[in-house]
Amino acid sequence: MQKRFFLSAVALGLLAAHAGTALAQDTFKIGLILPMTGPFASTGKQIEAAARLYMAQNGDTVGGKKVELIVKDDTSAPDVTKRIAQELVVNDKVNVLAGFGLTPLALATAPLATQSKTPMVVMAAATSSITQASPYVVRTSFTLPQAAVAMADWAPNNGIKKVVTLVSDYGPGIDAEKFFKDRMLFNGGQVLDTLRVPMRNPDFAPFLQKVRDLKPDALFVFVPSGAGAALMKQFAERGMDKAGIKLIGTGDITDDDILNSMGDVANGVVTSHHYSASHNSPLNKKFVAAFEKANAGLRPNFMAVGGYDGMRVIYEAAKTTKGGNGEALLNAMKGQLFESPRGPMFIDAQTRDVVHNIYIRKVEKVGGQLFNQEFSTLTDVKDPGKTK
Ligand code: PHB
Repeated sequence: MQKRFFLSAVALGLLAAHAGTALAQDTFKIGLILPMTGPFASTGKQIEAAARLYMAQNGDTVGGKKVELIVKDDTSAPDVTKRIAQELVVNDKVNVLAGFGLTPLALATAPLATQSKTPMVVMAAATSSITQASPYVVRTSFTLPQAAVAMADWAPNNGIKKVVTLVSDYGPGIDAEKFFKDRMLFNGGQVLDTLRVPMRNPDFAPFLQKVRDLKPDALFVFVPSGAGAALMKQFAERGMDKAGIKLIGTGDITDDDILNSMGDVANGVVTSHHYSASHNSPLNKKFVAAFEKANAGLRPNFMAVGGYDGMRVIYEAAKTTKGGNGEALLNAMKGQLFESPRGPMFIDAQTRDVVHNIYIRKVEKVGGQLFNQEFSTLTDVKDPGKTK
């Protein structure tokens, strides 16, 4: 009796294990790791919403397999991102890792992508060097050098000769500072000082006082998505605009997610970036309307578009490889060319980095709401960080 029970238990176990593998083979798993809590939660919220919208619009079956989206909160701590990525690869056997809200989170995971041969789609982080940290990284966000160089070309042609830079003191900020400054000097402009603020909970006040004393034509700023509102508030409180100092920067500071709540101080600010919610194309209008409808009126920002396009890259690669993984899936991501809500977009097969338009935009009131209105376009911009 006992023996028979034991045998059938073993058989059941085998059956369950077999069913498990059959199930795994029928599923295409996407491990989406994002900061869902803490100071960068807006990035997680935007990307998750965009990924779910993409799935709602394109179905949850691809390449003959059922898509399973596994969303995990890394609280923007690199050691947590790495541990979650490991669990997703080893236990869940995900086909692809995705997300990565900040540069340190992407860099902490890149070695694991290499070791496990798991494609890693970076949807947010934007330091140039990330794609070089692993041959399995594919990026659908942008790079800071792309945006910063465009601004350093625009500014000196528009009455801004003397600039002070103020950036968050980590990867993307250092990229923004370096590429803005080098290009500004090349164009005959001046950079009076380069200031760096802590990445987390920065107090801008002492830095802004210093900028006032230096009296530049403009202050060039990069802070990560989510931190722009605090910067704007302190810029206004210190009377910088009234002192005649213009605010310019990469589009991270006039983030569509929070732009409307920034008030008058944001009005007129000129930035360079790859995406505006007011980008004038039928595809973008459709994207924004569907995103707002699905998310109680939330306006999509550049993080959302990085997530949406990242899902597109993953879905198409899954189609090509019939739900594959490893190098085959990676190769099917390389060289994809398509229309994104941001405009034309290309994944350079050599660098695995994004090539897209960079727009110069000015914050304006449209229908009572603040938008980044694009007025000039640089087409097909490759990452300048890769050619040096
Ligand atoms: C990054 O950490 O790479 C990062 C985060 C937010 C941004 C841009 C870059 O807005």
